[in-house]
Amino acid sequence: MTTTDTPSTTGSGAPAPSDRNSLTMGPNGPLLLHDVHFIEQMAHFNRERVPERSPHAKGGGAFGELEVTADVSRFTKAALFQPGAKTPMLARFSTVAGEQGSPDTWRDVRGFALKFYTTEGNYDIVGNNTPIFFLRDPIKFPHFIRSQKRTPDSGLRSAQMQWDFWTLNPESAHQVAYLMGERGLPKSWRHMNGYGSHTFLWVNAAGEKFWVKYHFHTQQGMAFLSNEEAARLAGSDADYHRRDLFDAIARGEFPSWKVSVQVMPYADAATYRFNPFDLTKTWPHTDYPLIEVGRFTLNRNPENFFAQIEQAAFSPGNTVPGIGLSPDKMLLGRSFAYNDAQRNRIGTNFHQLPVNKPIVPVNTYMFDGQMTYEHSGSQAVYAPNSAGRPYADGPAAPEETWETDPEMVRAAYTLHAEDDDFGQAGTLVREVFDDAQRAALVAQVSGALAGVQGDVLERAFNYWKSIDPAVGESIESAVRAAR
Ligand code: HEM
Repeated sequence: MTTTDTPSTTGSGAPAPSDRNSLTMGPNGPLLLHDVHFIEQMAHFNRERVPERSPHAKGGGAFGELEVTADVSRFTKAALFQPGAKTPMLARFSTVAGEQGSPDTWRDVRGFALKFYTTEGNYDIVGNNTPIFFLRDPIKFPHFIRSQKRTPDSGLRSAQMQWDFWTLNPESAHQVAYLMGERGLPKSWRHMNGYGSHTFLWVNAAGEKFWVKYHFHTQQGMAFLSNEEAARLAGSDADYHRRDLFDAIARGEFPSWKVSVQVMPYADAATYRFNPFDLTKTWPHTDYPLIEVGRFTLNRNPENFFAQIEQAAFSPGNTVPGIGLSPDKMLLGRSFAYNDAQRNRIGTNFHQLPVNKPIVPVNTYMFDGQMTYEHSGSQAVYAPNSAGRPYADGPAAPEETWETDPEMVRAAYTLHAEDDDFGQAGTLVREVFDDAQRAALVAQVSGALAGVQGDVLERAFNYWKSIDPAVGESIESAVRAAR
């Protein structure tokens, strides 16, 4: 804790000798190694950065509250979703590919990460502003992110590399169509929807299971930037989105989102017309309509960006009773990736930091390691023990389990009747986009293909023709006319 009415101190709490003059031999003289305060300041400064998040490095966030306004207790027993429940929370929004200092208004998918400090432990929903993703097998994820970051020789971003990856992985089509549409340039974080994207498992008090997808609809209305506005802002105010959220909350304009779910009966999954765990697909609302849950509001800015936003650790693996993962391979891969990244990025005991700490008592047998702050005193360090320290001793809870195939394989998902790579991307472009949005899409994609050459360009034309023949032809004509 710092105070402003007392002079500064050293790290060990003694009065600092001076923050304005280092100790020297005479006014012009050499510096002295025993100026402990000076050396401490310099050494700490050299260690003040932690590695940035590997994807989603640039972001911002705020605290708030989730309020449940409906009754979904027939689907889940999770305390945070019971009627009338109010749960404190943290949200962090981000771009995916750019580094810490990169402009907020580069075209990209936006991260939409939520941490709920529930009475049963922390529950995180780590989603995006689009309901789907580029991939359906997590082994491809590091390759995908590398293709969106920078080339090894020049250190530049490369359209050739991005389109090479996308066209060699056609399951990316639906997400790329979203990205090249207006969702790739939200006006602000306040003006975008969020999605849990994956399919999750909900379990009610009777042990019945349901598959669910989360939707967070902005109450500020969806709004977007044009390419020209985004480019201008990238040059004039790289932190435009971070500033917008912080200033709005400081003014008392608290943004809010309506929370809804789509619920699929557990048994439907096996026979649904496409694989409901495929992250490149949405569930049509005609099949599974939105069901109201509540709303969340962001009403408190961080007091310290580094402590509360940079050190925030979200993980799709952080679940609570009544909520589980699902057979979505991407979700299962992610459930390992995040906490491992955070052990590296922040430190072994990142979960002990105030922003990550649950509001409920923690009784964990993980102990010691760098920067241990919380500890269990002299209690038994092993389980089971006869010293009276409690430990978990049950069979798996229903939210941890579902049926699976008996054979171990490395293979794509078993096909359902309508599984494919391009169908929903085509529906998005033809039936969701209007004429103006389709024209903007053609202009955007042909611009994005400007520097792309050779086989990759030919594949990109075929990729768009597979999404929609007319849109693909228009993109090809526009690109050829511009060369
Ligand atoms: C197998 C696929 C994926 C892997 C391995 C992966 C891995 C990661 C890693 C390592 C981080 C940095 C975590 C940190 O340092 O704190 C991250 C951040 C993030 N990822 Fe993923 N990711 C995957 C897919 C996705 C998907 C599908 C979504 C959205 C639906 C997503 C949304 C996010 C968000 C929002 C963040 C930023 C969280 C924050 O604000 O701190 N990721 N991802």
